Amino acid sequence: MSKDKGVDSNRRAIIIGGAAAVAGIAAGIVIGGNAFPRTITQVQPEVTTVKQVETVTQTAPPTTSQVSVGFVRQKVANYSQLQVGTPVTANYMGYTVYIVRTGVPSVGGVGPNGDVVGFSAYCAHMGYILEYDPNTRCLLCPQHFSQYDATAGGMQVVGHPNQFLPQLILEYDESTGDIYAVGFNRLVYGTYNTAAQAPSPSTGEN
Ligand code: FES
Repeated sequence: MSKDKGVDSNRRAIIIGGAAAVAGIAAGIVIGGNAFPRTITQVQPEVTTVKQVETVTQTAPPTTSQVSVGFVRQKVANYSQLQVGTPVTANYMGYTVYIVRTGVPSVGGVGPNGDVVGFSAYCAHMGYILEYDPNTRCLLCPQHFSQYDATAGGMQVVGHPNQFLPQLILEYDESTGDIYAVGFNRLVYGTYNTAAQAPSPSTGEN
């Protein structure tokens, strides 16, 4: 063992060796870092876009001819028995109906003056039986006080319903004065197919 300027040669070798080891570790870290670069590649998941196609089915309101399918032609009154302002109650295919002379030409009216009209007796709101008021020429509902104008095709003028009162399609036989119903122009309250759901077979006028 030699001493150089007071430094032990063995101790110097240890120091040099330690320094080399530290340098080697540092180099290894650098090399290792380059060998396995920390580049993160993110794989985007494949996204499949599903377009939802909306199918809108629009149903056209029924026409008079469609509504009339399945109805029968039935006598419901004779002109001679009708007095202005006094309705006749009849039964058309099991439905209670009113036949009335309004006294003025009316929408859908038949007869010599075009003032004979017929309507379902059931309120379009909740089906209560209506009454006819000759003063206003309206069919009135005693339940919730709705009113339908008999001269205007059953147009609702007061109250809850958001639709006209179903009107009878009438025919008039000039030779006999007979008045026939051949169908309703709208669905009677409580039915989705008025003809098919007729409560009972035709029983004729009351
Ligand atoms: S049942 Fe006629 S207005 Fe309600």
